[in-house]
Amino acid sequence: MNLVSKRIVAILSVAAIVASGCSSSSGSPSAGAKTEVEVVSWWTTGGEASGFNAIIDKFNTDNPQWHVTNSAIAGGAGSNAQAQLQNRVLNGNPPDSFQVHMGHELLDTYVTPGYMDNLDDLYQQNGWTTQFPQGVLDIVSAKGSDGKTHYYSVPLDIHRANMLWYNKTVFTANNLTPPKTWADFVTVAQALQAKGITPLAVGDSGIWANGMLLESILIAQLGADGYDGLWTGKTDWASADVTTALNTYKQVLGFINSDHASLSWDQAADYLIPASAGAQPKAAMTLMGDWAAGEFGAKNFTDYGWVAAPGTDGIYDALADSFGLPSKAQHKDAAKAFLTLLGSAAGQDIFNPYKGSIPANSTAGNPPADAKQYSDYQKWAMGEWKTDKIVPSLEHGAAAAPSWKGAWETAVTAFVANPDVPTLQAALAQACKDAQVCK
Ligand code: GAL
Repeated sequence: MNLVSKRIVAILSVAAIVASGCSSSSGSPSAGAKTEVEVVSWWTTGGEASGFNAIIDKFNTDNPQWHVTNSAIAGGAGSNAQAQLQNRVLNGNPPDSFQVHMGHELLDTYVTPGYMDNLDDLYQQNGWTTQFPQGVLDIVSAKGSDGKTHYYSVPLDIHRANMLWYNKTVFTANNLTPPKTWADFVTVAQALQAKGITPLAVGDSGIWANGMLLESILIAQLGADGYDGLWTGKTDWASADVTTALNTYKQVLGFINSDHASLSWDQAADYLIPASAGAQPKAAMTLMGDWAAGEFGAKNFTDYGWVAAPGTDGIYDALADSFGLPSKAQHKDAAKAFLTLLGSAAGQDIFNPYKGSIPANSTAGNPPADAKQYSDYQKWAMGEWKTDKIVPSLEHGAAAAPSWKGAWETAVTAFVANPDVPTLQAALAQACKDAQVCK
């Protein structure tokens, strides 16, 4: 196990989970006919849609007997897709494969109740047990009813949630430096406001995008270990440090666009892009996961810079999109062939350059010369992934059970409407107790 893997294991470790219902049977396409294969994601826009369509096109070209369709459900972070997927899986009518964040979202929702086939054969056949970092392997695996550990999904990417993106021309023209701390952020934001520029674009029509602000501020205030402790019961949600973070959060919300509730994350990211050359963009910064780099790429916008979210340099707030095999999938042979492409270095080097993410397969990272290449941001992120401390994202399924995330989002929604710090802190502390992690 290399150094990176060890660190990821230490930080993203998930308790052993007993799963059942892992039988495997295969449907096969009838000779000569093209079989429709349904895959569900929430990638409907910009680099997300382009990257996924590119890998699906590759699969469909190489496998004329099958036709994979992306039944995408709009709504960033799966805010609409996740509930619909759960209904379908619970009702025994799942797609052939679907997008799911590795970690708690995968394991608690689908694996523990026994809705997924294990993918051990794919992992063995493709050498993935040595190609994916150990920390990634650990959170796509769980104990089955036979008491042995099995692999349950194929990670396609690694994303970083705690990123601040800014319009370079706006910063240069106003003699500003990207903020390194939240105190710096306030100074920069005040200077921008004085010039009539909205400092921070937020698109929280899905509340997760606002919750990511709080997630990043907690990491900054508590550090990697303190933030990790929030999800294991070691860090006290009622502590003075958490109070300080919530006060910072309240202050930061004073610098966002007034139309935040009507925008999606990508519409907010687009506020950094001037409507025409030389025009003032609608906002100077946005805090968003690095799928924003995919969005900028898709819009041919290059005048953006990036820094770690204030106070979080050296900490990688990580998440991964993965795809699994529902036990009741109709076309298992096709789904497994598709998953094989998703996990391969070649497949990851088709998808990730569009997406803003880095490949989860550590042997990827070198697309052919005639294919789309990784951006400067992605090359930087690949280096950070090797050296940073890794922490799990709450908003993107890695840190805590989906029900806990739901309680957090209810509290954040109330706070955005009426920012009362003691009320938020009490609700967050209660959510930890309700999750049976805090006493
Ligand atoms: C995340 C997902 C990313 C991206 C983002 C916005 O949850 O992991 O791949 O899709 O939502 O939709």
